[in-house]
Amino acid sequence: MKNITDVPKLYDLLYDNLEEDIMVYTEMLKGRTKVIEYGAGTGRITIPLAQKGIKVVALDNSDAMLNKLREKITDKIEEYIEIVNGDMVTYKHIEKVPAIIIPFSTFNYLLDKSEQFECIKNVSNNLLPDGEVIIELILKKAFHSLAKDDKLVLTQTIKNGDFLYEYWTNTKYNDTTNVVTQVREFRVFDKENNLIDKYDNIIWQNNILSLDEMSKLLEANGLNVEEVYGVNPNREDAFGNYDSECEYLFIKARRKNEVNS
Ligand SMILES: C[S@@+](CC[C@H](N)C(=O)[O-])C[C@H]1O[C@@H](n2cnc3c(N)ncnc32)[C@H](O)[C@@H]1O
Repeated sequence: MKNITDVPKLYDLLYDNLEEDIMVYTEMLKGRTKVIEYGAGTGRITIPLAQKGIKVVALDNSDAMLNKLREKITDKIEEYIEIVNGDMVTYKHIEKVPAIIIPFSTFNYLLDKSEQFECIKNVSNNLLPDGEVIIELILKKAFHSLAKDDKLVLTQTIKNGDFLYEYWTNTKYNDTTNVVTQVREFRVFDKENNLIDKYDNIIWQNNILSLDEMSKLLEANGLNVEEVYGVNPNREDAFGNYDSECEYLFIKARRKNEVNS
C-alpha cells in the first residue's frame, strides 16, 4: 500500500482547487511576519502565504511532497519560503516564531495519542510567548458514506487536461480508535474513454479528535484556546460558528507567557 503523500500529483489533483481555507489563514495571520507550517505538503497554503509577504517555514516529512513544492517556487517568492524535511512531532526550529499553522487534516495524520501530545508540546516550544497556533481538524461528519464491505465507491470525477480521473474510495471508521481508514484508487481515462492508467491501494488514515480532546491537549501544553470556528458546507456561509454538523474545525490558541521550554 502507498500513501497519498507518495503520489503528490494525485494529492494536487484532489485538493488544488480548494481555496476557502487559504483565505482563513491569510486573514488570521494578518500582521504576522513568520510562520511555521506543519505538514506543508505541496505548498497549497505555503505559496499564497509567501505571496502575501509572510516568511513560511514549510515543514513536512515527505520528500515527494516537498519536491513538488520546490517545483512551484518562483524567484519572486523564493526568499519567503524555507523548506525543511522534518517530523512535526520532534522538529525544533532555530528560533521561536510568532505563529504556527497545522492546516487541513495534518494533525489528524498522527494516529498515536502520545505523538499528538508530543506534537503540541513541540508547537508550544517553537512559539514565542504570546505566539499563536491555528490547527484545522477534520471531523467525522466529513465522511458521508461509510462502507460495510471492501467495495470501492466512485466519489469524484476530475478532468485534468486531456485526461479524466475517476476517484474511487472505500471509507471505514473504527469507533474504538476513532481512526478513519480510506482506501483510494484513481483510474485514468483518455479522450476516447480508454482506461490508460490506474493508481490503486493508496491508503489514507486519520485519527478523529473532538474539540474537547484538542482543547485539553492545547491547555495541557500551555496554550490557551481563544477562537473556535467550524466549516459546515450545508449553510450559506460554510465557514463560521462551530456546531455539531461541522465537517472541519479551526482552533486558534495562544501560548501563555509563563511556559518554560
Ligand atoms: C493533508 S496534507 C496537508 C498539506 C498542505 N498543508 C495542504 O493543506 O494542502 C498533510 C501533510 O502532512 C505531512 N505529514 C504527515 N505527518 C507528518 C509528520 N509527522 N511530520 C511532518 N509532516 C507530516 C504529509 O506528508 C502531508 O504532506
